[in-house]
This record gives sequence, C-alpha cells and structure tokens, in this order.
Amino acid sequence: MTYDILILGGGPAGFRAAERAGHFGLNTALFEGKTLGGVCLNEGCIPTKTMLYSAKLYDYAKGGAAKYGVTTDGAALDHAFVTARKDKVVKKLVAGVEMQMKKARATIVRANGILAGRNEAGEFIVEAGGEKFCGKNVLIATGSSASVPPIPGLKEALSAGIAGTNREILSLKEVPARLTVVGAGAIGLEMASYFNSAGSDVTVIEALDRIGGRFDRDIAALLQRNCTARGIKFLTGSRVQSVEGGLIHGTKANGEEFIVEADKILIAVGRKPNVQGIGLESLGIELGANGGIRTDETMRTNVPGIFAAGDANGVSMLAHTAYREAETAVNVIRGIDDVMRYDAIPSVIYTNPEAASVGETEETAAEKGLNVKTLKLPMLFSGRYQAENEGGNGILKLVLDEEKHILGACMLGNPASEIVPAMAVAITQRMTAADLAQTVFPHPTVAEILRDAALMEL
Ligand code: NAI
Repeated sequence: MTYDILILGGGPAGFRAAERAGHFGLNTALFEGKTLGGVCLNEGCIPTKTMLYSAKLYDYAKGGAAKYGVTTDGAALDHAFVTARKDKVVKKLVAGVEMQMKKARATIVRANGILAGRNEAGEFIVEAGGEKFCGKNVLIATGSSASVPPIPGLKEALSAGIAGTNREILSLKEVPARLTVVGAGAIGLEMASYFNSAGSDVTVIEALDRIGGRFDRDIAALLQRNCTARGIKFLTGSRVQSVEGGLIHGTKANGEEFIVEADKILIAVGRKPNVQGIGLESLGIELGANGGIRTDETMRTNVPGIFAAGDANGVSMLAHTAYREAETAVNVIRGIDDVMRYDAIPSVIYTNPEAASVGETEETAAEKGLNVKTLKLPMLFSGRYQAENEGGNGILKLVLDEEKHILGACMLGNPASEIVPAMAVAITQRMTAADLAQTVFPHPTVAEILRDAALMEL
C-alpha cells in the first residue's frame, strides 16, 4: 500500500498535519515512538501553563489580592497536587489528539520512523518497528530537544538529578529550596516564575545583558524589574563556567567570578532540532545554517516530496508556528497554493504579568533598515486594566511603517497573550493605524488600548 503522506513525529506539527490530511481525504501514516502530543502537550506549553495558573492563584491568595480587599488566611500551594492536576490535563489533551487521529483515519505507528531511501517506483520508504511503509510524500516533524551546553560538571549534575531540563523540572516531586535557572528565555522565565511563587529562592543566570532574548528591550527591562520585585535574582551578562554538584561557578561580563549554590539547576539555554538518526542522509536532505532541516516558505526541503515543519526546521520553535507550517505543507501536497508567513508570529512569556510580542520591534526594524515610528502607551491608559490589573508599570508599543501599516506590537500586562492575536491579524492583513482605529472593540477591555494607540496616529 502507498500512503499519500508519511509523517515522522506526533507533536503539534505532526498531529496537525495528520488531522488536516485526513480531513482532506489523504491516506496518512504517522510515526511516533512516544506519547502523541510532542513536547508541547507532554512537557512544554500545556503543563507549564497549568502550573503557572496555580501559581497565579496562590500569589493572589497569599497576599496579592489584598489590594482588591480580598484576604485569606493559611493559603498554601500543594505542589504535588499541582503536578498531579497538570498530569491529568495533559492526559486529557493527549486523549483528545488520539481521538482526532482516529477521526482523521490516520494510521498511527507507535515507533520512531526512519527514512530509508526510495523503492523501485520512486516512492519514499520509512522503516518503523521492523516494518516498511511507502509514501508519495513525507513530512518530517521530529521536533527538538533541550540543548545541553558543554559546561564542565554539568553532565554529572544531570546524571545525579541535581540539574535537569524542561522535562525533569516539570516532574519535581518537591519545591526546591534554592533553584538556579540557566537561561532567561521563555522556559527559564516561566519556570523561575512558578518556583518563585511556590517558595523557591530563585536565581537566574543569563549570558546576555537582558532577559527574554529578542523581546523588546523596554518590555524585557520592565519584566525583569517585576520579577526582581517578587524576589527573583538575576545575574545577567553572566556565564556559567562549571558545575560541581549544586555549586555553580560563573563569570560576569567584567570578569568578576561568582558562585551560586542550588538544590536544583534548570538548564534552559535553547533547543536544537531533532535531525539525527532519522535517515536524512538516505535521501540527501540538507540542513540549514540553524541546524534544522532547510525549508522554503512552502515547507519543501531540497528533495521534492519531502517537507519539514515545526521545530525540526529550526526556524521558529513554537507550537503555533508548527501548526501553521503543517497546514501549509498539507495544502501544498494537495496542490493548493499556500505559503508560510513568519512576519506575524506571536511570542508570549507567560509570567505574571505576561509579556507578548508580534512582528517587528524597534530593534529588529532598525536591524532591517526599516524607517518606523513607535506609539507607546502605559497599560494604565485602559480603564479595565486600572480596574483589575495588579501590575501598574505595563506598557504597550505599536510599531508602524512610513505608511502607518502596523508592523509590530508588544506589551507587558495581563492578559497580553489574549490581546496580541489581534495584532497578528492586523499585521497579516496589512492593516494601518486607521484601519485599527475604525475597528470597534468591546468596552471595557484591556485590548481597547490597541485602538487608543492607533487613534493617536490619526
Ligand atoms: P531560548 O533560546 O528562548 O533562551 C535561552 C536563553 O539562554 C537565551 O537568552 C540565551 O542567551 C541564554 N543562554 C544560552 N547559553 C547560556 C549560557 N551558557 N549561560 C547562560 N545563559 C545562556 O531558550 P529556552 O527558554 O530554552 O526555550 C527553548 C524554545 O522553546 C524557544 O524556542 C522558545 O521560544 C520555546 N518556548 C516558548 C515558550 C513560549 O512561547 N511561552 C515557552 C517555552 C519554550
């Protein structure tokens, strides 16, 4: 039997592709050696958000709600309960993906698939669980793994269970008294936020002079200030030189040495695409400069009929990017014109308060030589924000081009993750500030601030 599409990997890219392919009547096989759902569902987006929600409620209960006239006695966070609930949520969602796969009539092969060249008819061969499967097209959606830097002593600390990556940190049975997080990207900051709320003494070590990676500098600085006020310590411009059990030896940018003592160490210094051991060489599939499988905007690789989506191509390692890339690949396989756009991919750091960004920042626009104007408003401009929100220092920035098209938006303040999609729509649809101002938003909402900013420009 020949499949229309063979999918390697059952994470967001793989399961979305299988669902879409099935929806459009393509004969599909999906290969997954672990639980369906990938990192996002099992050890990433969903479990962390489940835990962060408990942390937020606990923050309110233990005093954060006093300013709203609500006080409680004896508030407690039951970490074991929180992780058990997280596991339940994950289980339910994984079961949902299993259902989707059934509905899509996809053949699920519970083993890793390995590319093994072509058969005599020129079809692609995938080997899995001792069997051979043939297909007209292949989608590689093998995801990514946590990067582990070659720091002396780190391997030993990982084996001893003192250090861990995103996977291990989510399964800790107890809240560590002292947690050191290496890397102030999304994973590092979100986990720092949870464990700070849960009672850990948290130190974050970051090589750059800023947190949040490519986030807008002002927003990252405000976020850092908020986190610091909550008791999280930051060592920015600092590099870990070696690890000795729970002792972390590092150096600051000025050469000054430091030692941090920790009960647990979270390594969150980025992820690398899973491209080894999947038979890429059998078909001559090329990698790009980022170490992922090189793809174009249609998700095609250098080999016609082979596509790659999600973290495996290393372009934008986010579940929502993976969904859209998978949809693009399936459409292209169906002969429908579709291209992946990377100019409006939202990015959120789910701390409390949340930071969100989409499109260009002032900094990325300047790097591209774009002439832009930035509109800035404090989040307190919004009545709803004043009425409900705890973080008084949040800001919104809109980045416009010379014709006042919206190129980017970023903000700090809740619920940034729910507001930023409106700006993803605006960028995707090439809306101007005037278009935005002509759109009616419900009152009172925090999102209204987007219109208020646009009105400033009319
Ligand atoms: P990241 O790439 O976002 O951040 C890693 C940070 O570690 C960077 O700021 C980097 O400068 C720093 N770093 C690297 N080497 C270091 C060293 N030796 N010492 C100190 N600092 C060092 O990586 P992260 O947070 O691990 O996330 C991985 C991927 O997962 C990213 O693509 C991220 O976007 C995605 N993700 C997204 C989430 C979200 O959207 N909310 C949540 C979790 C993950």
